[in-house]
Amino acid sequence: MALDRYVITGKQRLEGRIRVSGAKNSSLPLLAATVLAEGTSTLLGIPELVDITHMIEVLKHLGCRVVRQDKAMHINAGGLEACEVDEGLMRQMRASNLILGPLLARYGRVKISRPGGCAIGSRPMDQHIKGLQLLGVKVKEKHGYIEAWTDHLQGADVYLDVPSVGATENIMMAAVLAKGITVLRNAAREPEIVDLQNLLNKMGAKVRGAGMDVLRIDGVERLHPAEHTVIPDRIEAGTHMIAAVMTEGDVVIENIVPEHLEPVIAKIRQAGAHVTLLDDSVRVQQWGRIRGVDLKTMPYPGFPTDMQPQFMAMLSCVEGTSIITETIFENRFQHVDELRRMGAQITVEGRTSVIRGVETLEGAFVEASDLRAGAALFLAALAAEDVTVLEKIDYIDRGYENLEQKYRQLGAKILRIHQEG
Ligand code: EPZ
Repeated sequence: MALDRYVITGKQRLEGRIRVSGAKNSSLPLLAATVLAEGTSTLLGIPELVDITHMIEVLKHLGCRVVRQDKAMHINAGGLEACEVDEGLMRQMRASNLILGPLLARYGRVKISRPGGCAIGSRPMDQHIKGLQLLGVKVKEKHGYIEAWTDHLQGADVYLDVPSVGATENIMMAAVLAKGITVLRNAAREPEIVDLQNLLNKMGAKVRGAGMDVLRIDGVERLHPAEHTVIPDRIEAGTHMIAAVMTEGDVVIENIVPEHLEPVIAKIRQAGAHVTLLDDSVRVQQWGRIRGVDLKTMPYPGFPTDMQPQFMAMLSCVEGTSIITETIFENRFQHVDELRRMGAQITVEGRTSVIRGVETLEGAFVEASDLRAGAALFLAALAAEDVTVLEKIDYIDRGYENLEQKYRQLGAKILRIHQEG
């Protein structure tokens, strides 16, 4: 594993234009969905990220042929041979569990190593399993593996206890080839679910309701390959908006879908930043200090948990006190200790943190614990006095394409130091 680090000189005002890449959290289910059809599907705009590389490794391990030509990814799932994903692959990325639904639909059998928890939470799969069992899947969990099989998938009425994004996606991808109708209630409403519905329907599926909390899926006999362009990454876009605010900059963020950013734009405006929406870009300008705001993460269309660490970095150096409540994951304050090393005044009680804004953050040695915590520390370093050394930026590489290149163009002073570990 490389132990790359960033050396960032703070207080550089960011100015200019930055283009958002394709959404990581849409690319992953879309790649898994290509397994549902024989032949070659093409996905456009897939970002070059470590998590995408891992998903491609899984698809190749299953027997798919995958070719990347620039931003086009061609996946031929005709020659599916295996249906097992071992611990090594699963440990690299838990979203590999998104092949459960497609393999059951296509093949009737799948075996995956139970994806471990991660820094932000235990990441259970009970809702995935409950939904698949209702569709007629038998599930056995033994020796850290989840084995699932069925001789045929039967449409069912499924109610999710929590609007789980991954469970919604796995159940959708199993139900499209089930016999009969599946109704999925309390489904996740994220834009990535709508993107998946659009690809599945291009492949010949009959899915309706994505974006709302009830999905209806009429099972069909088979699906055919399709071509689809992935939606832009709303979390990357939100991260760039906060960078503009924290450096009192003036940045145009291109390639966005405005409604996907509504909760983030509303909060940034509430804090006093200047946001101008154009049709597929957003301009963020900031002069002077902004004020503290209270924040509660919620399932979409609420404020996204994946923006909570980045927002905390911003609230660490504003006028006043803010309260952040993290309702989605049980352990998503790993970035707090590292922000404290940079002078932030933050206290944590369970899922609630209180942030007392300071005049400025100070450069320090800090390290990333997970993807979005890394993003938060990256932003804090851009705004801090002097120099920050940010270790373990491999976490950041999982979710942000060409980050240092994009930011150098805006005027940031970033060095990437490569170190073999
Ligand atoms: C997706 O993870 C995203 N990952 C996460 O982004 C994101 O934080 C999360 O959705 C919430 O928006 C991808 O899309 C690849 P969930 P997922 O199932 O699907 C509980 C990032 O930084 N739950 O919606 O794993 C779970 O414990 C990553 O890009 C169950 O209880 O999230 C959590 O509290 C981090 N049982 C809540 O639901 C289950 O069977 C939301 O989890 C499944 C989930």
